[in-house]
Amino acid sequence: MTISTSETLFDHYDGQPITKFSLTNENGVTVSAISLGATLYEIKVPTSDGSDANLVLNYPHAADYLANPFYVSMAIGRTAGRIKDSQLKLGSETFELQPNEGPTNLHGGPHGFNSQVWDGEITTENNVPVIKFHHVQKEVDDAFPGDLDTTITYQLTEDNTVKLSFTATANGHDTVFNPTYHTYFNLGNESDILNHNLMINSDSHLEFDEIKVPTGNLLDNKNTPFDFKENTKLGDAIKQMSNTTEKGFDDIFKVNPADNNEIAVLSDPATKRSVSIRSSRNGLVVFTANSFTEENMNFIKTNGVGKPYEGVALEAQTLPDSTRLPQFGDVILKDGQTKTEEIDYHISF
Ligand code: GAL
Repeated sequence: MTISTSETLFDHYDGQPITKFSLTNENGVTVSAISLGATLYEIKVPTSDGSDANLVLNYPHAADYLANPFYVSMAIGRTAGRIKDSQLKLGSETFELQPNEGPTNLHGGPHGFNSQVWDGEITTENNVPVIKFHHVQKEVDDAFPGDLDTTITYQLTEDNTVKLSFTATANGHDTVFNPTYHTYFNLGNESDILNHNLMINSDSHLEFDEIKVPTGNLLDNKNTPFDFKENTKLGDAIKQMSNTTEKGFDDIFKVNPADNNEIAVLSDPATKRSVSIRSSRNGLVVFTANSFTEENMNFIKTNGVGKPYEGVALEAQTLPDSTRLPQFGDVILKDGQTKTEEIDYHISF
């Protein structure tokens, strides 16, 4: 199996060149990423009419990615999700993080992984070509303790799996590491995901306070619109959320990874395309893009306008704010320690 590669200038951002790197397998599947935010730019699959279809939302210009608060298909870190009052409790110490949503630190704060231009290259690992991004997240920049030397690797396999891996080393202090990707999928040929089906290996989801900060309580999914144990049409589930403020899902599911680490499957019956999300961690955020607006969401898919439900972000991670709520997991990275987290998307078409 041969993987072909390419590297092109995508755009400039803030005076810096933004490069696009691509991997293509012999089945005609391409995954591309850009160096701004180590963003997943596209996953293209061949179509029956001889062209191809991109399964993730994307924009024509680098600046579009930071023109709205939706982190479209960008890398997220050091920590995904909301940290209450921007106070990171680590052992006996409390660190004041930078708030970027009211009093809350969201998705690593204003200087998180997504806002950085990463050093990128195509290289080989175990004799296969990969895209590698590297960045040192500095304590002086994002106010998290210690520096975090981070590498994000994209691999594309011959069985059409996009493998994303994040490896980080803490330097100078213990820190936290709970990265993810905000991959907004739209597998079909329509401008929204209402006819997609979703299955999630989950029995419960997190309770929030009024500003979406987890209380620590879990709520049962059974007999609620949150029950995705069986394949469920997203439009039907979203309709059941119509009298909530959110008018859809922006929720955190506690997941039970299967033997192959599958936590969710998204599929589009019309085109028979699907993606199996694999992760060994215990959380999945499902955001159905309820609050997407027409402006500042210059999507290629909808010719320069955004609209609610245009995609669904499936964000595999450890449940958030776990140094405050230790029952949610352990994302602490000790000074000098190195850890790898992985997310796989197995594509069928
Ligand atoms: C989710 C979050 C949403 C929004 C979204 C952006 O994790 O819960 O409120 O921030 O990410 O991609």
